[in-house]
Amino acid sequence: MHITGSILVTGGAGFIGSHTVVELLAAGREVVVLDNFCNAKPSVLPRIRTLAGRDFTFQEGDVCDKGTLESVFRKHDIGAVIHFAGLKAVGESTRLPLDYYRNNLSGTIGLLETMQAFGCRNLVFSSSATVYGDPAEVPIRESFPLSATNPYGRSKLMVEDLCRDLAASEAGWRIALLRYFNPVGAHPSGLLGEDPQGIPNNLMPYLLQVAAGQRPFLEVFGQDYPTPDGSGVRDYLHVVDLAKGHLAALGALHGLQGAVPINLGTGKGYSVLEMIQALERTVGHPIPWRFGPRRPGDIAQCYADPTRAQELLGWRAVLDLDCMCRDGWNWQQSGAVAQI
Ligand code: NAD
Ligand code: UD1
Repeated sequence: MHITGSILVTGGAGFIGSHTVVELLAAGREVVVLDNFCNAKPSVLPRIRTLAGRDFTFQEGDVCDKGTLESVFRKHDIGAVIHFAGLKAVGESTRLPLDYYRNNLSGTIGLLETMQAFGCRNLVFSSSATVYGDPAEVPIRESFPLSATNPYGRSKLMVEDLCRDLAASEAGWRIALLRYFNPVGAHPSGLLGEDPQGIPNNLMPYLLQVAAGQRPFLEVFGQDYPTPDGSGVRDYLHVVDLAKGHLAALGALHGLQGAVPINLGTGKGYSVLEMIQALERTVGHPIPWRFGPRRPGDIAQCYADPTRAQELLGWRAVLDLDCMCRDGWNWQQSGAVAQI
């Protein structure tokens, strides 16, 4: 890796961030995590330390607070930033658009200004496959047209545009715009995973709660999509693979010019019905489900062409669907969810 100094990880206590911090520490990196715990719990921090067998610096604070950002950059020699901090629930974003634009857009502007002021121009940003809107075809390549239909998606697209404009205005910026497909699973230890507040919005956390008997059944949103079995198709990706993708991006930043979008997905699509069957194989009993109407805003199918990630980052997903189900179920069963 050509980047020296510490890695600032905003949102490092969250689902993807916590897994990434473990990988960074395992790779010998010095890490500074900034998180305000708006969607994470402090108990994740000792778990990261246990898994990594090493310590890191934690700063509780809001990425929207320029004073906090400046003090982090003053105290530490930050060589690169991995920017996870943000809000991510599509439905909530339509009810609370200002919160989404403040956290996701203003927060990133303040971060970029601070990076510029301190001469740090290396950034790995959490974008999303949502920036492709309803793609005309699959697999999705980075060159496809971009669009967004809700405030969350627009906030990601705006940050991407902001990064492209910034990189065009000033030489030296190296920005990986990582477009994640559907992260699922958990750390194999059972110590880290996703802990959704309230009713889960996303398929896997909901399905795991049904499998555990915490909810009566899964509603499959739509049965008449133009897909092989009529249910929606997505590119599910193990969160540990995704975390490793961030290390690969850091390692490859020196070779990037400007702001470069990169898909992080497996390249394989699975339908909702296939996901139910896969989790049933893992848990060893049937999982109740029934068809319901389509969810507004959902698309039929979405999976990545992961070629660019392989070419530029030397990264590809290696953990299969059974592994995603096994580790997700282990996390669900381990009681870790209840303890956090
Ligand atoms: P998460 O909510 O688990 O993690 C986000 C973390 O950021 C949390 O720990 C939260 O407390 C923190 N945070 C939020 N706003 C903050 C602020 N203003 N200041 C400081 N900390 C703040 O979410 P995640 O699933 O780990 O997602 C991480 C990033 O990846 C997000 O930007 C999300 O939009 C993006 N993303 C996620 C998915 C997904 O399906 N999980 C898909 C595509 C993109
Ligand atoms: C959602 C977000 C998207 C975000 C992505 C990853 C919406 C409209 N879109 O997309 O912006 O980038 O998560 O975080 O929220 N499903 C069911 N029953 C359920 C839940 C989901 O059938 O209870 C189906 C969906 O219709 C879809 C698939 O499962 O076909 C996956 O859903 P989900 O996990 O919410 O991810 P996305 O729809 O890809």
